[in-house]
Amino acid sequence: MSNESQQVVLKHEAGSGTPLTLRNVSVAYKTRKGDVQAVRDVSLDLRAGESIALIGESGSGKTTLGLSIVRLLVKSAQVTNGEIIYRRNGKEIDVLGLNKKELREFRWKECSMVFQSALNAFNPVIRIWDQMKDTAQSHGWKDKKAIRQRSLELLKFVQLDAERVIDAYPHELSGGMRQRVLIALSLLLDPQVLILDEPTTALDILTQRTIIDLLRKLKEEQHFTMIFISHDLAIAAELADRIATMYAGRVVEVGSADDIFYRPRHPYTLGLIRAVPKVVGDFQELFSIPGSPPDLIDMPSGCKFHPRCPYATDKCRQEEPDLVPVGPEHMAACWHWREVEKELQSKPLHSIS
Ligand SMILES: Nc1ncnc2c1ncn2[C@@H]1O[C@H](COP(=O)(O)OP(=O)(O)OP(=O)(O)O)[C@@H](O)[C@H]1O
Ligand SMILES: [Mg+2]
Repeated sequence: MSNESQQVVLKHEAGSGTPLTLRNVSVAYKTRKGDVQAVRDVSLDLRAGESIALIGESGSGKTTLGLSIVRLLVKSAQVTNGEIIYRRNGKEIDVLGLNKKELREFRWKECSMVFQSALNAFNPVIRIWDQMKDTAQSHGWKDKKAIRQRSLELLKFVQLDAERVIDAYPHELSGGMRQRVLIALSLLLDPQVLILDEPTTALDILTQRTIIDLLRKLKEEQHFTMIFISHDLAIAAELADRIATMYAGRVVEVGSADDIFYRPRHPYTLGLIRAVPKVVGDFQELFSIPGSPPDLIDMPSGCKFHPRCPYATDKCRQEEPDLVPVGPEHMAACWHWREVEKELQSKPLHSIS
């Protein structure tokens, strides 16, 4: 890393309060077979400067939830219920009520998303500079010199050789470099909230490390408010202040990263943590959650996790539990969370790091 890149300052102003509130958000995809209930009744508050990780198996609704916040769901999807409220400088915006023009502004200046597997979405015949310039110009920036300056600064911030990368074509860059360009691009208009969908998944381990370090810099030095979507718990552990576990479209547990890793109360979260291989410590049999996630068109009755849950009883087969407080700032949706607590008291979880 050059000294120059270390000195770059983004001049991002951390927000205050609660920039984003989701209230009872549900999203369904219309398909020929029926409605896919991809997100069900999700309520979350995102506080300024915090990073929250959404974890859960493939198909649990993480991307759908992210896309609904920036209103980029496909046409067949519909937010069937709920409210999304965004706040900045004392102003409140009803995100679901924004018109097309307002949305374009919102997506770059307020809440931007780095998409899952967007690494290959770059147009191969457009240079990085043109992508950045076009984006800035389409939002009213006129001064090309200033745009170039800002673009170079951002590329340096993400620790790229800015002068070289800015005039490169996407195919000349490695996956890790492209991911860094995407992050720089998402910061171009200085949004308050960043949503990063599987920001490291397609990358090799060493490149993952550099991206994680970069995201940590955004969080710790620039105080961006972030939502990370990941099914990699180790990344969530490193980057998130709070973690929300999703299962079958619902948030089934939410708490501080420590609560989730050391004191999970939902059997599904517990299963996810036990399924993480431990690099350090004694050999331990690797646990995997039996069965597979439910069909979101024809879901099981009661708690959607009951067919896979070792704690399930008749009550679980009949009634879906709501999120209830299980500790300070810690909620779980399980009829048997006290039993999970008891089991962990007799058999504590080890550190996963
Ligand atoms: N365009 C679509 N049409 C119909 N169903 C869809 C569509 N996109 C997603 N789904 C379904 O919605 C559910 C949630 O998908 P989503 O992509 O949000 O999950 P995810 O948690 O992001 O998974 P992954 O970890 O694999 O990225 C899944 O059952 C998925 O099959
Ligand atoms: Mg996804």
